[in-house]
Amino acid sequence: MLIVSYRAQRTAGVYWQNAAETWVDIQTSETNVVSSLVNFVSGSQKTPPPAAHFMSESGIVDAFIMLGPKPMDAFKQYAALTGTHELPQLFALAYHQSRWNYNDERDVTSVSAKFDEYNIPMDTMWLDIEYTDGKRYFTWDKFKFPHPLAMIKNLTELGRHLVVIVDPHIKRDNNYFFHRDCTDRGYYVKTREGNDYEGWCWPGAASYPDFFNPVVREYYASQYALDKFQTVTADVMLWNDMNEPSVFNGPEITAPKDLIHFGNWEHRDVHNLYGHMHLMGSFAGLQQRDPNQRPFILTRAHFAGSQRYAAIWTGDNFADWSHLQHSVKMCLTEAVAGFSFCGADVGAFFGNPDTELLERWYQAGAFLPFFRAHAHIDTKRREPWLFPERTRQVIQNAVIKRYSYLPLWYTAFYELELTGEPVIRPLLAHYPLDKEAFGVDSQLLVQDRLLVRPVMQQGVSKVDVYFPAIDDKKNSDWWYDVDTYQRQERSGYVSVPVDDFKIPVWQRGGSIVPKKERQRRASTLMLHDPYTLIICLDRQGKAAGSLYLDDEKSYAYRQGQRIHVNYEFAHDQLVNSFVGKPKYKTLAWIERIVIAGLEKVPSSASITVNGVSQQLEVLQHDNTVVVRKPGVKMDVDFAIKLNFA
Ligand code: NOJ
Repeated sequence: MLIVSYRAQRTAGVYWQNAAETWVDIQTSETNVVSSLVNFVSGSQKTPPPAAHFMSESGIVDAFIMLGPKPMDAFKQYAALTGTHELPQLFALAYHQSRWNYNDERDVTSVSAKFDEYNIPMDTMWLDIEYTDGKRYFTWDKFKFPHPLAMIKNLTELGRHLVVIVDPHIKRDNNYFFHRDCTDRGYYVKTREGNDYEGWCWPGAASYPDFFNPVVREYYASQYALDKFQTVTADVMLWNDMNEPSVFNGPEITAPKDLIHFGNWEHRDVHNLYGHMHLMGSFAGLQQRDPNQRPFILTRAHFAGSQRYAAIWTGDNFADWSHLQHSVKMCLTEAVAGFSFCGADVGAFFGNPDTELLERWYQAGAFLPFFRAHAHIDTKRREPWLFPERTRQVIQNAVIKRYSYLPLWYTAFYELELTGEPVIRPLLAHYPLDKEAFGVDSQLLVQDRLLVRPVMQQGVSKVDVYFPAIDDKKNSDWWYDVDTYQRQERSGYVSVPVDDFKIPVWQRGGSIVPKKERQRRASTLMLHDPYTLIICLDRQGKAAGSLYLDDEKSYAYRQGQRIHVNYEFAHDQLVNSFVGKPKYKTLAWIERIVIAGLEKVPSSASITVNGVSQQLEVLQHDNTVVVRKPGVKMDVDFAIKLNFA
């Protein structure tokens, strides 16, 4: 349990490390009954500071204090303590298509083909529980999915991936090898009397492996090996759901507190860690299956530190505008608490969104770290082409926008691994002196470079956007609308017009954002595509930013096979400087440089590489200056100078 408190000059956090049921009572001055009584009797007007009381059902007091003093310091201190995500494969940051369920092989293949037919990028198809043989994980329904390997090949040949669900409840069926193994070897969580605990979940009667036992985790991990789970390939990734653990007939729909785990721990002591231990087994399984591929796992349950193994989503949401609004708030909360890789079911799990809600959900989802559409089995099918053409176009537009910013997302995740700085951030992370910004939870920053205010209200033609102040004199950064490059120069609320296509996003003046602008069917096919650098100038005519690249898949980056480069623009000149030696070999190059905020239009530009200079063409385009085809490779030092006649 992490709580962080802010004041303009000071941030402090407390991490209460306890896996038992925990309550936190937060008293603000308004809710503090005792102090208002004291004030009433004594005639005093004192307001006591807010207070938080932690109450855990069992365990010891084990608390860590984060001293800040700035919000970002506190976030980083917490990340240093509990760990960070490892850099995901790029495809995991792209768009995912899920529903409960894609019915059979034909369905999977045809949905994938339709994305191509309708020109919407998509990286990953997901299979929910119905792909299994009677909810026995590590098996397939032989009627609906008679040729899983061929189906997977159909996807991977197109550059796509498949994710399959593997839940922790195990069907109690003596003909099921996994159940037999767990029973014979004593791997299940036990009742107080020492018997295998039996609950009720998707398969019916089910038992739960005791992942607290390292031997059980090892057994579990070994099941992912391709000689065991022969009907998948090393490109098939994982969804761990229901791992709270979910028990339909249990108290509060989970496991009874008096169950006994490895080491004689009662479930009451470790309940909130069960999902985490499950993840440790899964992550080890995928790493052992293919040691040179970064695993991708999505989990529902998580604990402090689970970010080292998986991404999360916000759970079963409803097709309602308030749930869309909660997607942003919940992911921001997770991000400052160490868990950046967060998203919400786009379109909502329960219910059938109307076209407007669906469109807005895609637009918001395109700017959250994990971007997946998902839906309940009882909902109407809602692939983008099943809606009127305009809705399909709005969705396509949002997805393409996401793909164009993938270099920024990827860089942000690398820098998260390096520094612990959240990928998405609330305004207060960078504007701690602006009290008005503290409560803004309908907007998010992507690193300190983009400000996003998704439209999350029905039927609006404008939204109020808060531009934060950098100091107590209400000075502000400059913010450039990423579609028009029109600039906001003052802090405070601004009413911004929005049509159905509009995703209100601004780039901070003073930042440089890397993009890729060629459209492909999947992110894996963009590996060697050229980059565009978007330079938005601050009041001093300066900007800085970074870019990270590698093979987007393996661990070779940890052996130095990477390029991490800083860009700096000042005095009409762009230069790069490498962090470490740029060792990764890529065919990618810089295709275009877009500069917003120049006072005059340059007549030309010149690039200097290894002492040799060359002229470049410059165009004026929509409030920007575009330097065309610098053509420079990603691992080369260069300087680009703007020339004014
Ligand atoms: C519950 C999950 O939250 C949901 O996303 C999933 O579709 C169902 N379980 C079925 O597996």
